[in-house]
Amino acid sequence: MATEMALVKPISKFSTSSPIFSNSRYGKFTTVRMSSTSQSTAKAAAKGGKKAAKTAIKETLLTPRFYTTDFDEMEALFNTEINKNLNQSEFEALLQEFKTDYNQTHFVRNKEFKEAADKIDGPLRQIFVEFLERSCTAEFSGFLLYKELGRRLKKTNPVVAEIFSLMSRDEARHAGFLNKGLSDFNLALDLGFLTKARKYTFFKPKFIFYATYLSEKIGYWRYITIYRHLKENPEYQCYPIFKYFENWCQDENRHGDFFSALLKAQPQFLNDWKAKLWSRFFCLSVYVTMYLNDCQRTAFYEGIGLNTKEFDMHVIIETNRTTARIFPAVLDVENPEFKRRLDKMVEINEQLLAVGETSDIPLVKNLKRIPLIAALASELLAMYLMPPIESGSVDFAEFEPQLVY
Ligand SMILES: [Fe+2]
Ligand SMILES: [Fe+2]
Repeated sequence: MATEMALVKPISKFSTSSPIFSNSRYGKFTTVRMSSTSQSTAKAAAKGGKKAAKTAIKETLLTPRFYTTDFDEMEALFNTEINKNLNQSEFEALLQEFKTDYNQTHFVRNKEFKEAADKIDGPLRQIFVEFLERSCTAEFSGFLLYKELGRRLKKTNPVVAEIFSLMSRDEARHAGFLNKGLSDFNLALDLGFLTKARKYTFFKPKFIFYATYLSEKIGYWRYITIYRHLKENPEYQCYPIFKYFENWCQDENRHGDFFSALLKAQPQFLNDWKAKLWSRFFCLSVYVTMYLNDCQRTAFYEGIGLNTKEFDMHVIIETNRTTARIFPAVLDVENPEFKRRLDKMVEINEQLLAVGETSDIPLVKNLKRIPLIAALASELLAMYLMPPIESGSVDFAEFEPQLVY
């Protein structure tokens, strides 16, 4: 989730020409067609109108992703005839909770938003826009995946399918609310375009379960941590969206709990050595991605009064503790070696980004990148091989006897 190039296009109703982030700030309105860093958006925009709109999209490993999966395998996994571990009464209870729709009236804006946005100036303004764009893309990615799962599982398992549809309702709300936030900065993400133009990453169902469980829980811990921090330090409350995070994060928590129930219904994804290796792998990739991303955007976190690394470590530790309730193995993130290696990766990543900024020809850049990528890989491997923490759901043992037949 990091550097991406932008496809930007002014909305002709508001503006007939670029530039986009002009300093006569509030006269222009722009559709951002691809999630982007504000800097690259600004650079692309500076090149002017149509030329900017054709700028290539550069996806990296750290870019927020859109996912797709093997829907036939998903159908088989949720077929109650095939899978006797499916605890339908637990899913019925979860469905009732989703139907209650606690946040139906929560996402209502007021005039504070635009007023606050107008006061955000300078570099913080750009980084704020980027935060909104990236968050909106991530929420929208959840919406697309859950919506499709809701559609595809309708016949096989209507209860699970309806939960997915209701989760897609939540994510659409979140993405829409963030996109409205962008309108305070005279921008809008073109979500229809994003749906068609974005590359989709294919993950087998079991990987979708690990990855989405973690992203929901990490999302919960990020939102609640920011909310609590700003409640205690209201002088940093520079934009009202954070006031909504308390109820908002409960949606993410519920989504995570649903994936936890799904995983429990698929003991084969939790109960062997392969499951342990994959669990550690997904924990590592999610934590490292967040850490490297956030350390490239310290201005945002400092802008709201947080220390980026402390914030991230708190989120990682809490997410890891939550995850330990269900994953069969997690990383020893509280071991100081883990943070030491994360910080080393941040340094290497900075050097890697610096290579990209030089005026060297591509071949030279690539040659310079090789040892840095090797160094990143060796840090990752060392973290992966750190002695893990054996974990798992307390009530998981209840599923064991059912595996006999
Ligand atoms: Fe969400
Ligand atoms: Fe969610």
